[in-house]
Amino acid sequence: MAKSTSSQKLSVGILGATGMVGQRFVQLLENHPWFEVRAVAASRQSAGKTYAEAVLGRWKYSTPIPAGTRDLVVLSVEDDVEKIQAHVDFVFSAMDMEKEDIRALEELYASRGVPVVSNNSAHRWTADVPMIMPEINADHLAMIPIQQKNRGWDAGFIVVKPNCSVQSYIPALEALKEFGPQEVIVSTLQAISGAGKTFETMPEILDNVIPFIGGEEEKSEKEPMKIWGRIENGAFVLATTPKISATCIRVPVADGHMASVAVSFKTKPARDAILKCWREFESPLEGLGLPSAPQKFITYFEEDNRPQTKLDRDIGHGMGISIGRLREDAVLGWKFVALSHNTIRGAAGGAVLVAELLKAKGYLRAQ
Ligand SMILES: NC(=O)c1ccc[n+]([C@@H]2O[C@H](COP(=O)([O-])OP(=O)(O)OC[C@H]3O[C@@H](n4cnc5c(N)ncnc54)[C@H](OP(=O)(O)O)[C@@H]3O)[C@@H](O)[C@H]2O)c1
Repeated sequence: MAKSTSSQKLSVGILGATGMVGQRFVQLLENHPWFEVRAVAASRQSAGKTYAEAVLGRWKYSTPIPAGTRDLVVLSVEDDVEKIQAHVDFVFSAMDMEKEDIRALEELYASRGVPVVSNNSAHRWTADVPMIMPEINADHLAMIPIQQKNRGWDAGFIVVKPNCSVQSYIPALEALKEFGPQEVIVSTLQAISGAGKTFETMPEILDNVIPFIGGEEEKSEKEPMKIWGRIENGAFVLATTPKISATCIRVPVADGHMASVAVSFKTKPARDAILKCWREFESPLEGLGLPSAPQKFITYFEEDNRPQTKLDRDIGHGMGISIGRLREDAVLGWKFVALSHNTIRGAAGGAVLVAELLKAKGYLRAQ
């Protein structure tokens, strides 16, 4: 069966298509110029229903379910591997299961020649799996042929994107790397959609702040080290600076993760120098024509009360990073706040951008 569509778009499958992140994939891929959703898959409970039936009463977005997806019959991620494989050129992975089950399923699809672009954390620390934030470490895609050789895979591979909590402060610090960031203290104020929840399904968050998100602080401290690492002799060598200490807090916000950051530098820059770096940060994606890349990656707000989660999370269609409140810090040198959209830049949108980069670089093609 020819998988690519008449319009020559690549055919996409979404594993975990009925969940919070999966629905965001469905929404973002409506009318995507390069990709078309041809298979939706979820648990055995949803399998056999149309997509519209499977998400009845739990479609999370104000836009309608895309017409091209609503009548697709949901397949089982676990039982319908062959059917899914027959319909797609690659899959996005966003199912919520035990990590070892996710690892095994993603490997199963990749071993059958289906590239997997994963939103899950299961493979983030697998030695030969690149963790990509396209504007920061596109060069890590060079691990793909090494991974394929290690595992004897020809067309399939696994690529992951990093956790939603790190998406705002990694770009802010990346833009300042010439000054040598040394120590970072970050507190994140994270939206409930990051836990797959809405105010209806997480009523305990109303009028409340919950100072614990399981596993999040470790991810926030360690993932940047892989992203800022390098490939040497076929393996990742992790970065050792800056040292990061993170506190991750759940707040009563629907979407958008804010980070309050204090940072010391090897060479403490002047305020103007920092602002210049943020304002003039050139995305290495410029010129590739990736449909989801924001026109402006980093926006700095001069107003004391910006960025605000509700006002600014959608900057660059939810793919931009906003920064504000740069001021001197008596302990570390400088401090600021940064904001990113957790289910767009931090999840589905970030994974779509990774897939666009993979296509632009020739790793994804019609099968
Ligand atoms: N929400 C965020 O902002 C965010 C950000 C970054 C990463 N993540 C990660 O992304 C993943 C999905 O998160 P979410 O918030 O979208 O979760 P969610 O709303 O709970 O959705 C879970 C999805 O996984 C499917 N699923 C559950 N058990 C399954 C099974 N045994 N076999 C196949 N599919 C199964 C569900 O299908 P049914 O509907 O059929 O049950 C649903 O499609 C999680 O690993 C999460 O940690 C989330």
